[in-house]
Amino acid sequence: MKTLILVCVALAGCASALTAADSKADAPLEKAFFKDVPRPGVSDGNGLRIWHGNKATAGQFPYYVAMYMDMNYFCGGSLIHPKWVLTAAHCVDGISIWTMFMGALSMQLPKEEGREVHISRGGLLHPSYDKSVISHDVGLVPLLHPVSLPDPSGRIGLIKLTPADQNYMGVTATVAGFGINSDDANVISQDLMYTTLTAVSTDVCYDRYGSADDSQICLNTAKGDSSSCSGDSGGPLVIYDANNVPTQIGATSFGASAGCTLGLPVGFSNLTNFIDWISQSTGLYYPFDAQPVE
Ligand SMILES: *[C@@H]1O[C@H](CO)[C@@H](O)[C@H](O)[C@H]1NC(C)=O
Repeated sequence: MKTLILVCVALAGCASALTAADSKADAPLEKAFFKDVPRPGVSDGNGLRIWHGNKATAGQFPYYVAMYMDMNYFCGGSLIHPKWVLTAAHCVDGISIWTMFMGALSMQLPKEEGREVHISRGGLLHPSYDKSVISHDVGLVPLLHPVSLPDPSGRIGLIKLTPADQNYMGVTATVAGFGINSDDANVISQDLMYTTLTAVSTDVCYDRYGSADDSQICLNTAKGDSSSCSGDSGGPLVIYDANNVPTQIGATSFGASAGCTLGLPVGFSNLTNFIDWISQSTGLYYPFDAQPVE
C-alpha cells in the first residue's frame, strides 16, 4: 500500500491523472460550424466533394445556391422565392457581399449552361442565433434582382419549405453541397454532390456535443459511410414525397471539429420552427415558392 502511494506521488498523482483522463474522455466534443473553406484556387485533382456522396445531375437540385461570401468563403443556400435565398446564420454573420451561383453543378468550370450569377449586399440572421452552441442557425439573403422563372433549361427553380409544426424524427433526408470530401481537403468540391442521412433524436447530438435543442435537426453519419462536411453550410436538406417532389426541412449547420469522416453526428437547422420568422422577415406568406414577385 505504502509503495503504491509512493509510486503515485512519483508519478505526480495517479488519482488526479486518472480523473483528468476520464473526464477528458467524457467531455463533450467540440462542435464546429461547417465554414471557413476557402474558395477553390487551383484544383488539387482529388475530385473533392461531400464526403462519399454522389455527383448531382443537371436539374436535380435546381434550388441549390452556391455562394462566395466576401469573395473568400463558401456556403450553400436555397432559393425559396425569386428574391430570397435561405441559408445558415453563420453564412450571413459578418458578411457584406454574396456572389451567388444559381443552377451550378461545377465550381471549377468558368461557364455552365443555364448558370446565373447574382450579387447581394446585406443579409438577415435569426435574432436568437447563438454561435456558442450553434443554435437558431438560420439566415436570409435578399437578391438585388429576382431570378426570372420559370427557367426554360430547368436548371434553376424554387424549393418548397416544410410547413410549421412538423416532426421529422427518423426520416431519411438528402443533403446537397460543394463541401470538402475528406478532413484534409483544403478547398471545396469541384462538383455539386449529395448524400442521404437519417434524422435522429437531438439527444444523439446532446450526448456528443453537450448541447442541443429543437432549433436543430441531428443526423447520424456512420464511420466509413458518408457525411456533410465543411463547405456544405447553409445548403438544403430535403425529403421527397411519393411523387419525388422535394420539401426542404433543414439547412446545413455544424459537425464535429474533429472532422466529418469519423461517424460523428451532424446538425442542421430545423426549419419547421422558422416559418413564422421567414414570413415576418420577408413579408411573404407561406408557401413562399407560390408568391409572385412584386
Ligand atoms: C424540429 O422541431 C419540431 C417542432 O419544434 C419538433 O417536433 C421536431 O422533433 C424537431 N426535430 C425534427 C427532426 O423534426
